[in-house]
Amino acid sequence: MIEKKSLKSKKILLGINIDHVATLREARGGIFPSVFEAAMESIRAGADGITVHLREDRRHIQDDDVNELRKKISVPLNLEMSVSEPMVKIACCVKPEKACLVPERREELTTEGGLNVMKERKRIREVVKRLKNAGVLVSLFIDPIPKQIDAAHETETDFVELHTGSYANTCGSAKKRELGRLRAASRRLHEFGIGVNAGHGLDYKNVELVARLPYLQELNIGHSIISRAVFVGLFNAVKEMKKIIREAYS
Ligand code: PXP
Repeated sequence: MIEKKSLKSKKILLGINIDHVATLREARGGIFPSVFEAAMESIRAGADGITVHLREDRRHIQDDDVNELRKKISVPLNLEMSVSEPMVKIACCVKPEKACLVPERREELTTEGGLNVMKERKRIREVVKRLKNAGVLVSLFIDPIPKQIDAAHETETDFVELHTGSYANTCGSAKKRELGRLRAASRRLHEFGIGVNAGHGLDYKNVELVARLPYLQELNIGHSIISRAVFVGLFNAVKEMKKIIREAYS
């Protein structure tokens, strides 16, 4: 009951991942569409944060995009990044408000699974410490697996972003099971005092149940919003998503 009451009063933040605005720009190697303008339009429509993934292969977002966003936007910048040494050096220099550590494989189309914190505990713990010392709030992108959550706790991360990809890609009873895993993971994180975020594969239909997860603080959504923007414009696409998330609680 207490859990339910406290959940009713909260606001879930929406971070807009604008990587695919850069994907479109890189398709022609020019300057359109502008990643910075996309960030500004998202903010005008109510985005609480801007998320970009600076990949090692620089397939979409470029270093200049990160620098420009860091200097000019009025909402927190969340930098998705691998734990590789060059990336950690960039992040400690740019000092975004937030960093989300993700696994990265060159051949993948998008981030496919969560970090294996159990396996890479030592390195991740060291990276978390360096980023925190640089004044960056750190999040680990992980699957909703109890052992990974326990390992995340040991790294002293501020947040965990729960990977919602499996939930998004299933249906029927499997989807219910995935939602149950996400709920249990949220509760476990809360018990550890770790902030709960979620993202990946969320769209205008499947976001509602995720927005009702206990203790959820922030959602990071990209592909579905940028896709919808092709038809209704970015401003409306962000507004529509904000409305669904807000109404998930009313
Ligand atoms: N969160 C993380 C950690 C991601 O890697 C991504 C994809 O870059 C997202 C959220 C956004 O996922 P989607 O584009 O499927 O909404």
